[in-house]
Amino acid sequence: MDVVIDSLGNAVDARVKQVVTSLVSHLHGFIKEIEPTQEEWQKGIDFLTAVGHMCTDTRQEFVLFSDVLGVSMLVDSINNRKDETATSSTILGPFHTADSPPRELGDTISLDDNGDACVLAGQVLSTDGAPLAGALVDIWQANGEGFYDVQQPGVQPENNLRGLFTTDHEGRYWVRTVVPRYYPIPDDGPVGSLLTATGRHPNRPAHIHVIAGAAEHRPVTTHVFLEGSPYLDSDTVFGVKQSLIRAAVPVDDPEVAAQYGVTAPFTLIEFDIVLEPHEVPEPHEPGATR
Ligand code: BEZ
Ligand code: FE
Repeated sequence: MDVVIDSLGNAVDARVKQVVTSLVSHLHGFIKEIEPTQEEWQKGIDFLTAVGHMCTDTRQEFVLFSDVLGVSMLVDSINNRKDETATSSTILGPFHTADSPPRELGDTISLDDNGDACVLAGQVLSTDGAPLAGALVDIWQANGEGFYDVQQPGVQPENNLRGLFTTDHEGRYWVRTVVPRYYPIPDDGPVGSLLTATGRHPNRPAHIHVIAGAAEHRPVTTHVFLEGSPYLDSDTVFGVKQSLIRAAVPVDDPEVAAQYGVTAPFTLIEFDIVLEPHEVPEPHEPGATR
């Protein structure tokens, strides 16, 4: 191992050198621990090759590999250490689209009206409790059968079950949608085979994805998970945090339904989102303005 580390040049980027040194050291430690046969080593190479071959513009098998090994959540937790009162982050997942369609408060994101009526509503607040008017809330989810629009082109309408909302003067948002269901991550590739070989299921509990951001606050990438969903205690990508679980409340009252522009009965999920203010840079620090 030392001979490999010693071969790294000195006139290189210090971070690159640190990362490669650590990679070589851990990789050699791993190989020494498991002592693979030549065939096992080849199997590992074949697995990584298959992961690469599975990748397309719409399928990122390496990210999925990272997800099921808990690495994506580890990277998330390293990069999102924050105030306990702020909403926790969780995994982004592969089904976010950069150009979520802007919609009006109360619009439906269910373009094919296929599923059980649901309203997601809440307030975006700063950690001191101040409502954040004009905050952006980007929402996306799978349909009642567990598929995202991008997985079913030609079956679901484009931009089905996604939308970008702007909070009102009290920081409130509300969205009409359908009740999400648990679903399997794409498991028809090498990562699915790895799950099977290691006795694991591919499922995620029912959830709705949210990215919320507001001026002078750190954005959060998160989910709201539905209380009582199967797989809350065994999410295959380890994304569940207790603080993100909310009740999906059946509502029969027609007056409450009318407030949200739906007809009773429907399911109400309330999810407030608390954002942490950006730290104010000290004078003389880069980025400080006077
Ligand atoms: C998702 O929640 O959309 C997701 C996250 C990780 C892997 C696959 C799907
Ligand atoms: Fe998801």
